[in-house]
Amino acid sequence: MRPDAAPQISTGYSRLQIALHWVTVGLILWQFVANEAMGQAWRAFRQGTELPLSALVAAHVFAGLALLAIAFWRMILRVTRNAPPAPAGQTAALRAAAAAVHGALYILTVAVAVSGAVAWFGGIATAAEAHEFLKTLLLVLIGLHVAAALWHQFWLRDGLMERMRRPQA
Ligand code: HEM
Ligand code: HEM
Repeated sequence: MRPDAAPQISTGYSRLQIALHWVTVGLILWQFVANEAMGQAWRAFRQGTELPLSALVAAHVFAGLALLAIAFWRMILRVTRNAPPAPAGQTAALRAAAAAVHGALYILTVAVAVSGAVAWFGGIATAAEAHEFLKTLLLVLIGLHVAAALWHQFWLRDGLMERMRRPQA
């Protein structure tokens, strides 16, 4: 690889990375709060009755596909632009744990969206079961991630949250 093609070492997340992170948070919240119509439509489809298609069903599909696209976009930015180094004073174990959870959040977001799409567009029940299981796993990891963010904010007070608020060029 040419030296000028190496990923840029960033001092912080860019405006775009921060915007995509918070759009992800909003869309995930929507998917977990407003999924009743999607569940009903799926059950109707399984029972062979008419699909109660509604704006809420369409919103679940579009928000899910948007989350899929944004996850890939963020992963590309992660590789091309890199991410800021871990805050000073963090142990190797904590750095590894943070990297593992961040990686798993990307992978699970993709897996939840893909399993939902396969269930919906392919009418495949196993994919719907996977969708249900994976979304629970995603929720657990989000819980861990948010707990870690709060721990940094209120216990360690190391300004980590600022990294997802103030963009660095
Ligand atoms: C990361 C993106 C997504 C998240 C977080 C998500 C989340 C959820 C949640 C929380 C449920 C309710 C499950 C339950 O009843 O316990 C659900 C159901 C469902 N979702 Fe998604 N979803 C996503 C993407 C998609 C996409 C892209 C599609 C289709 C194109 C889709 C299709 C479905 C279907 C068919 C159901 C009903 C399955 C069932 O109740 O067993 N989802 N989703
Ligand atoms: C209120 C909820 C949330 C808060 C307060 C929060 C906070 C943060 C903070 C402060 C960082 C920066 C960590 C660092 O610089 O080392 C971060 C990174 C990250 N967050 Fe969140 N987050 C939230 C929800 C979510 C959700 C719902 C997802 C995805 C499903 C997510 C995925 C990620 C990922 C993948 C990174 C790593 C970015 C990278 O380095 O590529 N976050 N979050």
